[in-house]
Amino acid sequence: MTAILITGAAGFIGANFARFWRGRYPGDEIVVLDLLTYAGDRRNLDGCADVTFIEGDIGDEALVTRLLRERVIDTVVNFAAQTHVDRSIDDPDAFLKANVVGVHGLLKAARRVWLDAGSGRPHRFHHVSTDEVYGSLSPDAPAFCETTAYAPNSPYAASKAAADHFVRAYGQTFGLQATISNCSNNFGPFQHPEKLIPLFLINALEGRALPIYGDGLQVRDWLFVEDHCAAIDLIVRQGRPGESYNVGGGAELTNLGLIERLCQALDRQFAAEPALAARFRSAPAANGLATSTLKSHVGDRPGHDRRYAIDDGKIRGELGFAPSRDFDASLAATVRWYLDHEDWWRGAMGEAHQGWLERNYRQRPGSGAI
Ligand code: NAD
Ligand code: TYD
Repeated sequence: MTAILITGAAGFIGANFARFWRGRYPGDEIVVLDLLTYAGDRRNLDGCADVTFIEGDIGDEALVTRLLRERVIDTVVNFAAQTHVDRSIDDPDAFLKANVVGVHGLLKAARRVWLDAGSGRPHRFHHVSTDEVYGSLSPDAPAFCETTAYAPNSPYAASKAAADHFVRAYGQTFGLQATISNCSNNFGPFQHPEKLIPLFLINALEGRALPIYGDGLQVRDWLFVEDHCAAIDLIVRQGRPGESYNVGGGAELTNLGLIERLCQALDRQFAAEPALAARFRSAPAANGLATSTLKSHVGDRPGHDRRYAIDDGKIRGELGFAPSRDFDASLAATVRWYLDHEDWWRGAMGEAHQGWLERNYRQRPGSGAI
């Protein structure tokens, strides 16, 4: 039996991972540590049985030390982070604090409990990172592999890159049994409506414009969140300590291409279910129009990375990982989830978030229509 500490599991991927782990390993003890920032929502763990929830900061070394000792935790999977690139442009300090100093607090506690005083306990520390640490690719450049040099462009990516270096250093210097995963853009249930897919879905249901940054020709690789969870599970159980693994969905799309598919998926749901038109009266699809009529180009994100692409040969070859889900089927399932969880997203789209979105778009030239 494993006792696992999942940090940041009131957020999007962490909550999906806690549910995944509970389903796959019913006998394991799960402890969640989350600071409940604007992005964390206790409801994301509703129905996930036998989880001990602790509200707190990964940077609180004393708290993490106590948890690791008292709960006899042997596995840490760290999702906790500030995660939105636009917010990192607004307030880089918050990213340094959570993503670098916070991760270092977690590392220090793990070192103290697992390695100091010759305890030598079997353990695993897995750190969840992002492909954004590698920077931006030109259209024909080969995809990111694990040996690609780090070249972060946003404060978010820089803070994640710094954390990766600290995790690696704790492995090399102190013998921490650590692994890192660098994953592409995720989508699925429980994603906060500051990110592209949920924001555009909700705006479309409310009849609000879909604010496309710049020309919309930036390329991202999309992975359904459950597949990311399966990849992390493989790395935690079978990955080699000291190694990083890139995880991707094999679904490279321009933002315009993705938005078109999202709009069509929503139009199909409205066509199949006439009751949706009564629930969402402002949606174009309720008024005989295509959702794509809401598309609106706004000023670009400063430092906007042009293209990300993942070479996932290592995790495929070593651990046998492959995304299990077809992209369009996963997108349709995601649309369905948001249609079925209106209370959840209305909660997340509170006044504070609306205010932030408006400020964010006001700062962009050409965003008057939003
Ligand atoms: P999220 O913003 O939805 O959730 C982050 C969670 O961390 C929230 O619950 C928040 O309350 C918590 N948190 C923040 N600071 C904390 C702190 N100091 N102590 C404890 N908890 C804290 O993020 P997400 O999209 O679920 O991303 C999870 C991880 O995966 C992040 O590390 C992110 O960098 C990485 N990642 C995300 C994506 C993606 O597409 N979303 C892709 C690749 C990697
Ligand atoms: P996002 O979901 O913020 O993820 P990331 O920046 O980590 O890739 O954005 C995905 C892409 O969508 C990115 O190229 C920025 C773009 N985007 C928009 O065009 N408009 C928006 O309102 C948002 C939030 C993102």
